[in-house]
Parts: sequence; C-alpha cells; structure tokens
Amino acid sequence: MFDHDVLIIGAGLAGMRAALSARQAGADVAVVTKVHPVRSHSNAAQGGINAALSDRGDDWHDHAYDTVKGSDFLGDQDAIEVMCREAGDEVIAMEHYGVTFNRDEEGKLGTRAFGGQRQARTFFVADFTGQALLHVLYEQIMKEGVRIYEEWFVLRLIVEDGKCVGAVVMEIRSGEIHVIRAKAVIMAAGGLGRVFEPSTNALICTGDGTGLAYQIGAPVMDMEMVQYHPTTLKGSGVLITEGARGDGAYLLNSEGDRFMKTYAPNMMELASRDVVSRSEQTEIDEGRGIDGCVLLDCRHLGERMIRERLSQIAEIAKDFANVDIFTEPIPIQPGMHYAMGGIKADVDGLTPVPGLYAAGEVACVSVHGGNRLGANSLLDTLVFGRRSGVHAADAVKSVSHANLSDASADEDRNRLQGLLDNPEDGGEMFGALRHDLGQSMDKNLAVYRHQAGMEEAVEKIREVRERYRSVYVADKGKTFNTNLIFTLELEFMVDSAETIALSGLERTESRGAHTRTDHPDRDDENWLKHVLVKKTDDGPQIDYLPVVITEWQPEVRSY
Ligand code: FUM
Repeated sequence: MFDHDVLIIGAGLAGMRAALSARQAGADVAVVTKVHPVRSHSNAAQGGINAALSDRGDDWHDHAYDTVKGSDFLGDQDAIEVMCREAGDEVIAMEHYGVTFNRDEEGKLGTRAFGGQRQARTFFVADFTGQALLHVLYEQIMKEGVRIYEEWFVLRLIVEDGKCVGAVVMEIRSGEIHVIRAKAVIMAAGGLGRVFEPSTNALICTGDGTGLAYQIGAPVMDMEMVQYHPTTLKGSGVLITEGARGDGAYLLNSEGDRFMKTYAPNMMELASRDVVSRSEQTEIDEGRGIDGCVLLDCRHLGERMIRERLSQIAEIAKDFANVDIFTEPIPIQPGMHYAMGGIKADVDGLTPVPGLYAAGEVACVSVHGGNRLGANSLLDTLVFGRRSGVHAADAVKSVSHANLSDASADEDRNRLQGLLDNPEDGGEMFGALRHDLGQSMDKNLAVYRHQAGMEEAVEKIREVRERYRSVYVADKGKTFNTNLIFTLELEFMVDSAETIALSGLERTESRGAHTRTDHPDRDDENWLKHVLVKKTDDGPQIDYLPVVITEWQPEVRSY
C-alpha cells in the first residue's frame, strides 16, 4: 500500500497543473497515469489557448461574453468569469515556465483568430500547443519531486464513510494490484472521445475518469453536450486544427462555394463550432458534399505560413489521407472531438463526493455549456487544474488517512480473476463490443439527433452491457496485459455512453451541440437548466440544476 496527501488521476494538462500547484502548496503529491505523462491526450491539442490580455486592448469580460454566447447560454457565468479573469496570468505563467509561444512581428506573444470570438486572443505554439505545454509541465513536476505512477491503471475509487480516500490500481508492467491511500483525490483523467467512432481523441480516451466517479455516486452533468469538431480528416477522423481557419483557410462545398456565407455571414468559417459543423452536415445531407465530406482549402495561405504555423496538419493530411495541402484542398467532415459534460465540479474542483475533486475535460464546472469555444479547453485544464491542486493541498492539512490495508483490494483481485476466467465459448472479445458501441453513438448522437435514434443508442448500450458479462479476455498473462486493460476500459465507456444518451433524450430542445430535428428550437423557458445523471441502485437517476446567470441574459445567437 502507498500513501499520499493528494492523489491525482491523469497526467494530462489538468492533472500535471494540479500536481504542480498542490506540490508548491506543500502537499505530498502523486500522479497515477495509464500512459507515460507526455503521451497524454493533451499532447494532441493543436490550435492554442485563449486569454484576453489587457495590454493588447482586450478585456476578459469580452472573452467571457464570447464564451457564454458560444455555450448557447448553458455555461454557468460565475465559473466562466473565473476562467476568463485568470486566463492571462495562466498563459504568462506558462511562458515563464518555458513554453515557446509564437511571437508577433514586434517580438511580443502572438495570437491567432479562433472561432466564435470577436478578438484574436488565441496564444499558440504553431499547431502543437498542447504538446509544448505538456512537456514544460512535465519538466516542472519532475523538478518538484512529484511521484508518478506511470503506466498504472485505476480500477476503482475507494470510498469509506461516504468519502473518497484513495484508489485501487493495477501496475500494468507486473499486473500487481495495489491500494493507494490519499487524503484527497483529484480526477483529471481526460475525455471519453472513443465512446464514439471515429473521434479526434487518442485511443486512450475511454471515459475512465467519468466511469470511476460515476460508479461511486458522483453526478455527471451536461453529458448530452458532445462537440463535433468541424474539421476532422476524412476516414481516420484525425483533428485538422481550427487554427487553419483562424489563419485564413476556407471551407468549400462540391460547387466550390464558400457555403458559410449562407449560415454565418458575419463570422463565416469562424462561427462557433456547433454552427460550422451543422452547416457542413447540412451541405453534405443536401448533396453538396463530396463523398461524405466538404473541403478545407489552405492553398492560398502560402508555403511560408503553412510551414511556420500549420506544419503538423500538413504532415497529418499527407500521412493519413495522402493529401498535399500546399496544392490540394483537404476532405474533412464534422467529427467527435470533446465532451462538454462531465463530473459535476465547482471552480475549486470540488465534487459532491467529499474528498473527490475533478478538473479538465473529465469535469463539468460548467464553463462550456452547450458548445465549447476552440482553445478554451487548454485554458480550462490549466485554470481549474491549478485551482483544484491549491484547494486540495489546503484541505488535506486537517485530514488523516482512512483505515485501509492491502486487503482492501481483494475484491478487485477476485473480480479481475473472474473476468480472466470467462470461457471463450460464447464470449466475444472487447473489440467487437467497442466497435458496435462507437458506431451506434456516432450514428445516433452526432450533429443532428432525434428521439428514435437516441432510443436506438440506449438499446445498443444496454445490449453491449449484457454482452460484456461474458466478454472473453484471450491473454491470461500478468505482464502488460493490454487485452485486459482494453476490456476494463470498455466498462467505463458503456457507463459514459449511457449517461450521454439518457441526457440527450431528456433535453427536449435544441441548444449548442445538442440539435434535435424533432425539437428544433431553443426553449429558454423550460431548459435553461443542466441535466445531471447519478448512478443509484435503481439505475440512472436524472436531476436538474439551474444555469447560473450573472451579467448576460440569453439572446438570439447568430454569427
Ligand atoms: O482545432 C483545434 O486546434 C482544437 C482546439 C481545441 O479543441 O481547443
């Protein structure tokens, strides 16, 4: 058994930012992560991080308003204010830690335009901003002596007397199962993108954090709000950054028309993501697409700009679709990218389960509401990661460890052995189940939704859950049993999927990314509220919370 003051689950930007701030506040901190920290999915964030710096003539209130409008008025405005107010300091702190942000002609930190914002306030490192941030934070937490349990998989959160007091974890290298005791646990395990197929998300984004917290009774909120990014590469679904449109790339239909003028005449390609994705899908559905796609044209940007600011997408387009973006437009389509919903948490990361915090994509604070603005995600990870770490480090000062022992994991050892003992006869491997789940989610909970489709998804989810009972794990070994890990992940995916589909069915209106063909209008009278789902012995229980409004009353949203 291992003991720490603060245990952080996940080593992406939220997790490492939380680790750094908790350590700097004097706590004994450990991070447990199923991959090496710099392989976390934050690594794939391309376009940048938003902040309104006053010395650029920008104002955090304007950033907050753009975020509220982007959220289709579902984001909690008190939380949005915190995020936007603290954004500038966070970006500057990262620069001081060593992040090599792009510079402008005068040598100052440069910005690019991003969707849904009236100012160019996205700070960036070419088109690999997440990677740059991640490596710098990793250096910092190593310097601070944070203990990292690298390639360890969390099986269960431990609850004693209603309080989260640690986790049961498996060391992937040896297959050994251990207990890590903690006075506070910060869940920062990232997203659930792979519940959908395809997705821009790494294969590791399987909703583990959502599932772990949900299983101990933490409510999840706004789960119906799933972001389809407007530019994902044909076939593979790999992200092609919004930074390309920010830097001037166009969207074209099969007639060579810049169709966004029909849907968002003021902001064109830089309308908010839900608006652009719906527009593309409409073009495709009405026969003006090309093989299920529209085109992203970067050719006029010129070789220098592409090489300096968009080199990664040039490589991605070549490697994954054999497209030369210097001479050809890129076939793209809307694709699953981000979960606006997650574990309900406040601006200090506190969840309704004592001892459990949540930050980053796994959490719902809620600053993104019905639709996240591009480049607000990196910001969310850093601001709320830091705040959670500070709060947890302070809270644990008056807490002692729960009375646990290594035997506290015996039931988990038995459960895993039971899974390994499932016979091949009649059992399926995880792959078929994962594929069926992902395809159904992408068919029924994508850009456009309706009741019958979401009901079909719920039916599929329950069928997959039933088939999972006899799932077959072919590898019986202990060392690096990825077959077992993938199988365990699937359980979290099924729970995550169920909360998404049930929340979608519940919200009988269209708002942000949740666009229902059977309820096409936004309904502020009845739905200016969040949908929450909580696990109970009688099945998932739905609840509601009002949206927090401070300055900005809902208004008609157009771009
Ligand atoms: O398009 C992008 O670069 C993605 C950024 C984000 O999701 O924030």
